[in-house]
Amino acid sequence: MNSLKVSDIYKNFGAETQPVEVLRGVSFEMAQGESLAITGPSGSGKSTLLHLIGTLERPSSGQIEINGADPFGLTEPQLARFRNRGIGFVFQDHHLLPQYSVWENVLIPTMAFKSYDGDAEKRARELLERVGLAHRLSHRPAELAGGERQRVAVARALINQPSLILCDEPTGNLDRATADGVSALLFELHQAEQNILIVVTHNLELASRFERRFELEAGRCAEV
Ligand SMILES: Nc1ncnc2c1ncn2[C@@H]1O[C@H](COP(=O)(O)OP(=O)(O)O)[C@@H](O)[C@H]1O
Ligand SMILES: [Mg+2]
Repeated sequence: MNSLKVSDIYKNFGAETQPVEVLRGVSFEMAQGESLAITGPSGSGKSTLLHLIGTLERPSSGQIEINGADPFGLTEPQLARFRNRGIGFVFQDHHLLPQYSVWENVLIPTMAFKSYDGDAEKRARELLERVGLAHRLSHRPAELAGGERQRVAVARALINQPSLILCDEPTGNLDRATADGVSALLFELHQAEQNILIVVTHNLELASRFERRFELEAGRCAEV
């Protein structure tokens, strides 16, 4: 069963004598199949929290458990493998590799650690069909529209069937109608795959459609 437990997380940046305290005691738990939206003012630590949950950075104190285990107990190579298999990221910018096709971009995460146990190409084909891009497999990111690139990024995030999907303002660069399409897709795939979905967003209409919603303010999280 997928699960996430965040316990009393603190995160400081800067010199020890004059640290900037960004997160000051964030705690929450999520179970398999749950979805959460995180909102909050710019600079309130939303991206920082997502980076910690995504094991891209370590908390200054506090614990994070993913599927019952502490990822920060792993060595760096083990952690890289864990992240590749277990966590899917979608950022505001698509972060696709420009020199590779849609098809290759989606398959790349399965190559790093031979991550996907099943038939990776079959899964890539199915995901690209579900995001409506099965007819664009050989195209490069530059040949796609913004919303299409983000749909490729969603397919890539899901390719290894991760337990956790973390999205940082995934629709922030898109117009309203395109943003609606991408968020509908995120929900649809979340329902189908029963992962844990966390989305940071400024879009309150989008946030209101999540099962759970947190507001980050002054380094703390309040469920709203
Ligand atoms: N690597 C870093 N070094 C120093 N300060 C940082 C770093 N990352 C984030 N911060 C600071 O932490 C605060 C929260 O940033 P961030 O998590 O990006 O906020 P949000 O995503 O809510 O806009 C900001 O004041 C930012 O300047
Ligand atoms: Mg941010």
